[in-house]
Amino acid sequence: MEFYDRFVDVYDNLVSFNNRVKREANFYDSLFKKCNVKTVLDCACGTGHHIMMFKQLGYDVKGSDLSPAMITKARTNLKERNLDAPLKISDFKELNKNFDERFDAVICVGNSLPHLLSDEDLTLALTEMNAVLNENGILILEQRNYDKLLKDKKRFFPVSFRENEVFFYVLDFLPSEIIFNIINVNTSDQTFQTYTTTYNALKMDKLKELLYNSGFQIIDLYADYEFNKFNIETSDRPIIFCNKSKK
Ligand SMILES: C[S@@+](CC[C@H](N)C(=O)[O-])C[C@H]1O[C@@H](n2cnc3c(N)ncnc32)[C@H](O)[C@@H]1O
Repeated sequence: MEFYDRFVDVYDNLVSFNNRVKREANFYDSLFKKCNVKTVLDCACGTGHHIMMFKQLGYDVKGSDLSPAMITKARTNLKERNLDAPLKISDFKELNKNFDERFDAVICVGNSLPHLLSDEDLTLALTEMNAVLNENGILILEQRNYDKLLKDKKRFFPVSFRENEVFFYVLDFLPSEIIFNIINVNTSDQTFQTYTTTYNALKMDKLKELLYNSGFQIIDLYADYEFNKFNIETSDRPIIFCNKSKK
């Protein structure tokens, strides 16, 4: 997708992956051990940091992403750390066509699923995630809490401050979508770049219905990587832990 083909150059500066991995590794490892997960597909792998984390934890992991530029960057990131994992360009609406094997876990994190703007596309993507899972497979989704965003209608978010570089978001609220304008200021040469993408303002009740219709049941909803329970009023980013509904 065009947005990420351009945004890829700054994505790893925006997201502090070292902190993220420190925060998230134990969560995934204990959940995966509990569910007997050995094989993992990260179906919106971006620049590959979860792939590297899972490799280092000893999982058999593959990655896919719609953006060729993100996949190229993920390959470079893995190579720089002497790691290797199969990565391919794939829309998560076409996983079943692009993968022959079945996985014990699929993850779709970093607010990736709400890039799809229609119920049809969301159902198709979730159905494809279901199709590439083993019978006892699990799905982990992580995204923004759109119920809270829509209630608060807060428009300005500072995201990260680094030496010479600041990122902040300005949000535009449409009836069922939110436009994220990402502003990246280079404070040393006093220039800035803007990046704009639109997300489906996907509320939790709608997501639950779509998951159910795509063959999933929700096992737990977490507020963070410490296994605290999700609170729709206060949590920023739900982590949705599902498995396949039993037929
Ligand atoms: C915000 S990034 C998150 C990347 C990574 N999961 C993370 O947590 O850092 C969203 C990713 O979703 C990918 N994406 C968007 N739509 C997609 C689709 N239809 N199929 C597969 N990947 C998609 C983008 O290319 C991008 O890499």
